[in-house]
Amino acid sequence: MTRLKDKVVLVTGAASGMGRSHCVRLAEEGANVIALDLPVSEQELNETARQVTVAGGTCVTGFADIRDAQQLKDAAAHGVESLGKIAAVVANAGVYADMGLSWEMTDEVWNRTIDINLTGAWNTVTATAPHLAENASIILVSSTNGIKGGARTAHYSSSKHAVVGLARTLANELGPQGIRVNTVHPGSVATPMILNAAVYAKLRPDLENPTQEDAAAVLASKNLLPVPWVDPVDVSNAVLFLASDESRYITGTQIVVDAGLTQKTA
Ligand SMILES: NC(=O)c1ccc[n+]([C@@H]2O[C@H](COP(=O)([O-])OP(=O)(O)OC[C@H]3O[C@@H](n4cnc5c(N)ncnc54)[C@H](O)[C@@H]3O)[C@@H](O)[C@H]2O)c1
Repeated sequence: MTRLKDKVVLVTGAASGMGRSHCVRLAEEGANVIALDLPVSEQELNETARQVTVAGGTCVTGFADIRDAQQLKDAAAHGVESLGKIAAVVANAGVYADMGLSWEMTDEVWNRTIDINLTGAWNTVTATAPHLAENASIILVSSTNGIKGGARTAHYSSSKHAVVGLARTLANELGPQGIRVNTVHPGSVATPMILNAAVYAKLRPDLENPTQEDAAAVLASKNLLPVPWVDPVDVSNAVLFLASDESRYITGTQIVVDAGLTQKTA
């Protein structure tokens, strides 16, 4: 309950899926939370704030499209004004959409994913850098697609690999100041990002209206452990470890939470 006692964390993409889970799990361990997301997610962001409060934390919500550096700067400054300096930044917001073959992908589709998943992470770091507490921890959310490629994911896999390069560079630049930077690599996680009809159709092109159960069988076959996906809290526990002093000498590295997906050979 005290691994992050009175520390302030900033989480992007806080209205949904893993972002909400990170906010709540970190609050359970004593953190106060600056929770950011798009204005369109206001209702869901308020629900995250409610759950953080129930978990014992104080939550300040803010709106920012992570593609817009100024919006992020304003939202971070507002949060810090209320809660104090940031001990952990979790650059979590991202999109997984418009999958297709590389040579058929439009510039618009490519640019949107790169702008959100890569430039958004960069903007999150630069907006929060002036507000970091001593020995702060920066956690960039990548993916198993940041470790290996996959057909029809050129934009997504490229963005998630690039986030690793960004984290490794920042770890070099910020290490002398005692600031750590790492990436987290979830496999399939039970969130709205993959639990939706478009992903089920991609996984089961042989079926007319595939269900979650149909998709689960395919996803389970990709993992070493006998599960189709991990839960958001499994990733939040890795984020919590990296945010806490328990990982005080871990920087520039990757933590994979994927039920063995990246290591499966057959
Ligand atoms: N779910 C998975 O299987 C999975 C696997 C590996 C990595 N990831 C990564 O984990 C992170 C969280 O994903 P999730 O599964 O919780 O997804 P999700 O779709 O449930 O939540 C994503 C959140 O990001 C926000 N967001 C999207 N675009 C934004 C923008 N431009 N500015 C600000 N906020 C924006 C959305 O509003 C949403 O609240 C993402 O970076 C994703 O790529 C997810």
